[in-house]
Amino acid sequence: MLIIILSSKYIMVVLIKTENNNKPEISIGNQIKKFAINGLYGFNTILLIGMGRRLGIFNYLYEKAKSSISSIKFTEVIFTPLDLSENLKLDLKYLDGWIHLGLECGILEIADSEQKLLKTAPYVYELLIDCNNKSYIGGTLGAFYYMAPAQDILIDNFKTGKIWSILESSKEVLKDLQERGARFGKLVERLFSKKFEDFCNKLKKQGKIFELGCGYGFNLETWAKKYKNVSFTGIDIDPIAIAHAKELIEKNNWNDRFKILEINIDKFANSFKEQFDLILLNQVLHEMNTDENYRRDVFKNLYSLLKDDGILLIGESMVPDTFAPKKGFQLFDITHKFTEVKTSLFYDEKTFREFIDSTLFTRSEFIKEGGSGIWVIRK
Ligand SMILES: C[S@@+](CC[C@H](N)C(=O)[O-])C[C@H]1O[C@@H](n2cnc3c(N)ncnc32)[C@H](O)[C@@H]1O
Repeated sequence: MLIIILSSKYIMVVLIKTENNNKPEISIGNQIKKFAINGLYGFNTILLIGMGRRLGIFNYLYEKAKSSISSIKFTEVIFTPLDLSENLKLDLKYLDGWIHLGLECGILEIADSEQKLLKTAPYVYELLIDCNNKSYIGGTLGAFYYMAPAQDILIDNFKTGKIWSILESSKEVLKDLQERGARFGKLVERLFSKKFEDFCNKLKKQGKIFELGCGYGFNLETWAKKYKNVSFTGIDIDPIAIAHAKELIEKNNWNDRFKILEINIDKFANSFKEQFDLILLNQVLHEMNTDENYRRDVFKNLYSLLKDDGILLIGESMVPDTFAPKKGFQLFDITHKFTEVKTSLFYDEKTFREFIDSTLFTRSEFIKEGGSGIWVIRK
């Protein structure tokens, strides 16, 4: 039944399903599973993971696994509550609560109940603990945990329309969010190496990579570990991020291969007249000044910094229009929009291609595989 309500200010169309309409395809039981069960387990799992990371439990389990016999490939880590309590100086009673919830949510299992031994459930080590594993999703899930404190600010913003940037969050949250972005960078690197094997093989011998918006340096670290003969330049406008990136380079003894600068792209392009084989823009574009002319100027600078046969590689959340038909799994990109809807400007595939077409670059390819997608842009 269609009801149209008219008032002086609004026209409201209300579509009401009556008893006579066809029954929905999904049963009420399945809807309960979708909302109540998934919600309860999902929320508690995120809470557990977030707290486990912040309390240092996952780091401790990682170190414990690494320090045991190295030739064995780990699938689980065995520990006791006392282990955690003594090494991390955590209250045993609270730990007992965390562990009990971990068992309920399927992160942990009992290895031996007599001896009160616990173990991580299958693949928890790879997925949540070993941050170097290619299947690691702990950073991403850990970052969602921070939605809890952010919601107070968001609730206020919904009512006032005020602008709050996620960049105003605490140092701990910011570092975690950067790790999450860099995790996306790892997927970008993997997909790029797979699809552009010849280009990457050449780069492995020698070359120069530039990252605009290198942040804390986590993404450059991924590339530097793989491209050992490449020299890297990373710039950012955030002094805290730059300080962290410099520390990371120092820690890895990469000073001779790296230049990390706190400078904006305009000044950089004008003062450093070098050109690069590969330019990276990972999870940066949406955070930039939203003015299209400003962005076009940035791309003009990137154009001048790229060698003629070079590639500009962009990893960015592609967010479809709200009312566009749903295409597969888009939750991560859409959560990104949800938290940064007022401060960021996101594109979808069509609008991004239109943007690139309005710059000096002439070729753009969007390559998607599984949950990740990359933009490969050339002169
Ligand atoms: C989400 S972080 C990504 C960091 C890094 N690319 C990575 O993947 O690990 C975005 C970074 O872009 C930087 N950024 C935003 N606008 C920028 C601009 N106009 N010039 C340089 N950096 C910028 C921010 O300061 C922030 O460090």
